[in-house]
Amino acid sequence: MKVREDDIEKLLNSLKIVDVVSEVVELKKSGANYKGLCPFHSDTSPSFTVSPQKNIAKCFSCGAGGNPISFYSQYHKIGFTEACVELSKKYNIDIHYDKKNNNQEEKEFEKLYKLMEEARDYFSNNIFDNQGKEAFEYLSNRGLTAQFIKENYIGFSYNSWDKLLNDFTQKGYTLEDLLNVGLIKKGDKGYYDTFRNRIMFPITNASGKTIAFGGRTLEDRKDIAKYLNSSDTVLFNKRKNLYGFKEKGTFIRKKNYSILMEGYMDVLKAHSFGFDTAIASLGTAFTSEQGELLKRYSSNVIIAYDMDDAGQKAVERTGLILKEHGFNIRVIHFEDAKDPDEYLNKFGKDKFLERVKESKEIFDFLLEYYSREYDLSNLIGKQNFVLAFKPFFSVLEKDIEKALYLGKLAGNLDIDKSFLEKELIENNKKEKNKYNSFDENKIVIFEKKSNNFQINSLEEESLKLSLVSKEFLDFFAEKDIESSFVKKIIKILKDESMLKSHNYATSIMENSSLDEDEKELVLIYLTSSMTLEERKKEELNNHLFKDWFRLEIENSMNYAKEVKNPMFHYKLKLMLEKLKNENEFVKNLYIDFKNLVKEEANERVY
Ligand code: CTP
Ligand code: MN
Repeated sequence: MKVREDDIEKLLNSLKIVDVVSEVVELKKSGANYKGLCPFHSDTSPSFTVSPQKNIAKCFSCGAGGNPISFYSQYHKIGFTEACVELSKKYNIDIHYDKKNNNQEEKEFEKLYKLMEEARDYFSNNIFDNQGKEAFEYLSNRGLTAQFIKENYIGFSYNSWDKLLNDFTQKGYTLEDLLNVGLIKKGDKGYYDTFRNRIMFPITNASGKTIAFGGRTLEDRKDIAKYLNSSDTVLFNKRKNLYGFKEKGTFIRKKNYSILMEGYMDVLKAHSFGFDTAIASLGTAFTSEQGELLKRYSSNVIIAYDMDDAGQKAVERTGLILKEHGFNIRVIHFEDAKDPDEYLNKFGKDKFLERVKESKEIFDFLLEYYSREYDLSNLIGKQNFVLAFKPFFSVLEKDIEKALYLGKLAGNLDIDKSFLEKELIENNKKEKNKYNSFDENKIVIFEKKSNNFQINSLEEESLKLSLVSKEFLDFFAEKDIESSFVKKIIKILKDESMLKSHNYATSIMENSSLDEDEKELVLIYLTSSMTLEERKKEELNNHLFKDWFRLEIENSMNYAKEVKNPMFHYKLKLMLEKLKNENEFVKNLYIDFKNLVKEEANERVY
């Protein structure tokens, strides 16, 4: 982060979300807010809501949005710093940043992108020369034409330990550059090429730049990995990117669906048959981050995974993630072929289209899948069958979907619908945030994110308040914090607040021990905290103090039970009752509590 911390605050305070969003979205006033069509997914009714009051925007359909800076950076697919720089110029808000440093960083990235592009071209040329003959023939045999290989920059890495290393250092790249993008590795005996004797598939990001490679071996050997992928680098994160995004995802936007496959070869083969919206994850199971990315292009997805057990199991898992992001999901079934690649080879384009048309809605897929897994002729089996649907129902957001699926399940099972409703809907709710009373100040956009970090709402709200209240920070730091992320942030904040009396929170953005995800999350909390009015701060402070207090009493009560001390337990219980009704003298009550605990401890010691 090269923009000065107080300038980020200044930017966030000066920029108006309505101005920034209306640059790209037509907005209409609606009550206190503004509404428009969401720019992050194909929206038909205006779901994108802009709140001038909170200075944030959010799509109620796909969840995208953010504050003026994060919105701008997401929309234009640029980094946070870049967004700050552009916005400051555009809106004439004077910000300070280390110009030289900033340019240097940009240049550094440009250089690495260029290196990857050159590597892509290098591999691509290799496959057409003599040494690449075997690789070329292998791909031809699998049905890819020379033209397709060329246009898609499918390449070949020489069977050598240092050919790329030598060729690229001669071009002027340093060992550090090559290491940074994962093209070479360091071993005991020195540096060597990462990819050797492999067919090279370039992996691009959503804006079409080459950021990594997948390398397939030519040999049919069990002792070497079939695929070797670039490890995560400054340019590449395998959890956050997708394979096969053609033309920056425009095809998916236009056709309004994607076809999700398992393998690189599946995707390439599909593209070669004109199914240009085929994509795949990158050597790992499909991730929530990938769902988020895909959702910006279309909410409709057809899963075309392999037909083996692992593939079908993965459909269940991926289906859940996609449903959590609100996708409409269909699942393809292939007869007499193990995967899309083989199906297309054997039966061709028209048959594949038939499979697309006959694809099953995800719930129908699950019905079949689970009925194969559970024996529905007995009660236990039936019960387990119903329970298997719990995770799926718990991620449904639309009532219409819940009703529809429930009806289907009831019809299938001949079980009373009200029983299912209880089991799968009423008793199957995802935990609601109990701080909903602070809705006004709560930025809900990134709820999903914080769930990933597993933070309970008490700790989450406490963290937010700690960012703007040193007094509360001191209080919170003493508590038994569960989330390791929150613990880490609080520790950094404590250290910072020792050095600086104000602005201690914003300097956290420069802390090198935080990764990008953690920083993003902190920034979101920071934005949300900074919009807290004094009065609300006070209110939140009291609430949180009480909640932590209650927790302490409850813990002590458990302890009293354990050591079989009914008198102590009783006193604590009285205190808990008092706390419930007390608003004004909570601090006094807390002192009483501390004394009670001390007394108790003394009694036990002596
Ligand atoms: N994969 C991987 N590492 C491996 C095996 C597989 O990263 N050792 C990933 C790759 O992304 C691969 C995907 O898992 O594309 C699916 O595996 P598989 O079906 O074996 O690969 P295909 O792409 O279908 O390759 P091929 O048809 O050439 O066997
Ligand atoms: Mn395969």
